Amino acid sequence: HKISLIGAPTDIGAGSRGASMGPEALRVANITSVLQSHGLEVLDKGNLSGPSNPWQPPVNGYRHLPEVTAWNRSLHDAVYAELQDGRLPIVLGGDHCLGIGSISAVARHCRDTGKKLRVLWLDAHADFNTNTLTPSGNIHGMPVACLCGFGPLELIEIGGQVPAISPKWVRQIGIRSVDEGEKRFVHEQDLEVFDMRYIDEMGMRAAMELALALIDSNTHLHVSFDVDFLDPDIAPGVGTTVRGGPTYREAQLCMEMIADTGRMASLDVFELNPALDERNRTAEVAVDLIESLFGKSTLMRK
Ligand code: ARG
Ligand code: MN
Ligand code: MN
Ligand code: MN
Repeated sequence: HKISLIGAPTDIGAGSRGASMGPEALRVANITSVLQSHGLEVLDKGNLSGPSNPWQPPVNGYRHLPEVTAWNRSLHDAVYAELQDGRLPIVLGGDHCLGIGSISAVARHCRDTGKKLRVLWLDAHADFNTNTLTPSGNIHGMPVACLCGFGPLELIEIGGQVPAISPKWVRQIGIRSVDEGEKRFVHEQDLEVFDMRYIDEMGMRAAMELALALIDSNTHLHVSFDVDFLDPDIAPGVGTTVRGGPTYREAQLCMEMIADTGRMASLDVFELNPALDERNRTAEVAVDLIESLFGKSTLMRK
């Protein structure tokens, strides 16, 4: 696969400022040369542009809805164009509200090409809030719901079909913070969640075997990696840390098992917040893990 990096420098959907600096921090952590060292062709498309963050309170349960819409439309178009070109887009976020634009483009591409879509959502949070359930109004807590058709028209229709995806196509890993109303909705919609309790009891390997089950040669695997998936001990540079996440070893295994499928065809890296990081170490961990996603292994693999 030929890779295209797409920077989306905004924190428009988040509750703290700074994820807008994520794309540059990943570049400073050498994302391009690390991928190239594995023989991959990498084209850095640079950054998208969009409205600045007005830092206003929520209106009707949504903070910054017009600005979130503008950023997601532009990201949708950029991701869709790379996929149509036969390339593998890596979105450098940016907060997780951008998952709406990225994944709605992937879903459109899957409809065009007759592929089955599987979305792996690596996150501490379910991001399944709506404007009535949300405790914050922050749209980065709503992208999975929007993609499944629960959200404002301007966000749910970005990919040209409502809903963009079915909850059945999603597998969430690492979840350990879900709001009260959101919990009920996750249950109602029957989202498949491998939460930290599951990972503690069964191990990352068993969780990933199930999350990756039934992926075949006609599957497009999309990975949406919220950096707060990781334990804050190894990844302090995010806006919404939740303790008790996967360790470095567990996260590496997760990424290696995804790589082993050979089916990952698009990737998001969201919520990295350099303003909260320590000497860019969270960006460096993220790049380490991305390297494993693209097949880095200690020994030759059969
Ligand atoms: N559940 C909380 C909310 O809706 C936090 C969401 C955090 N999401 C994220 N992508 N970091 O406000
Ligand atoms: Mn394709
Ligand atoms: Mn999160
Ligand atoms: Mn998230």
